[in-house]
Amino acid sequence: MVVVRTSEAGLLPEKDAWAFEALKELFVREKGFDLEAYKERCILRRIYLKVRSRGHSDLGAYYRFLSRHPEELEHLFQYLTINVTEFFRNPPAFEYLERKIFPRLMEEQRHRGRLELWSAGCSSGEEPYSLAISLLRTRKKHRLFVPFHVLATDVDRNILARARRGVYGRESLKNLQEEDIRLFFKEEERGYSVSNEVRECVTFRTGDVLKDQPGSMHSLIVCRNLLIYFSRENQERVISGFSRNLCDGGYLMLGKAETLIGRNRLYFQSVSPTERIYRMRGEPLADSL
Ligand SMILES: C[S@@+](CC[C@H](N)C(=O)[O-])C[C@H]1O[C@@H](n2cnc3c(N)ncnc32)[C@H](O)[C@@H]1O
Repeated sequence: MVVVRTSEAGLLPEKDAWAFEALKELFVREKGFDLEAYKERCILRRIYLKVRSRGHSDLGAYYRFLSRHPEELEHLFQYLTINVTEFFRNPPAFEYLERKIFPRLMEEQRHRGRLELWSAGCSSGEEPYSLAISLLRTRKKHRLFVPFHVLATDVDRNILARARRGVYGRESLKNLQEEDIRLFFKEEERGYSVSNEVRECVTFRTGDVLKDQPGSMHSLIVCRNLLIYFSRENQERVISGFSRNLCDGGYLMLGKAETLIGRNRLYFQSVSPTERIYRMRGEPLADSL
């Protein structure tokens, strides 16, 4: 079999090259989603897992099936966007926020109106709800009654429907203390439902970080385990976009395996290298998304 070595060391059989191009176009047309922005190696690996698990001989056959079955296209979309998450994912990062960053942000925000946070690539909601729980605890502990709001965006509409429902299985609460489960969740037949107090702090909205960023001033942007799937160029572009959505001295938190890229290193200083927390310094980057 002839194999073409594509960029990022992905492997695409020559006979499938047309199908990969056609599939990318289908995603743009039907889902408004640009696969080009993602690491090709990663996308191809997942696509071929699907090709095999659906019993197709090659990508061409799977593409023909996909173009006639919108439900399979939706399924592949969800499979490629990878929604894995949990409450207080990587607990030390949340501990750091709650101990060091949130009290300071709330102190600074006193008399200045609402504190704005943004969880970009929020998946089924565990991350923005964790931020809200952590901020509610900070407010109580430090007696700082500062209003706050968490904007939570994701490109996947279906996952956002789950996030808005806000009902979770017991295993996704494993990083929470019993007392917090009692305080911030209601046990129901279907699972554990996020309390109204927490829900009211979070707004979910569809959004693609590559195309539309909210534009308002945030004190903290949390974007974890999403940039890792983008090409280097797009990681840099998205982080530059974040710099224009942060207020003076605002914070950016990335995932454990993610870091600043290229020129972005000049505009942020590292606050916690282990927890991947950075703070804006100087002016935001000028180029637009
Ligand atoms: C692995 S999850 C990470 C969830 C959460 N941030 C965490 O760390 O637990 C990645 C999320 O990013 C979303 N996503 C992928 N591409 C995106 C894009 N271009 N814009 C916004 N969200 C995107 C996916 O739908 C998925 O829900």
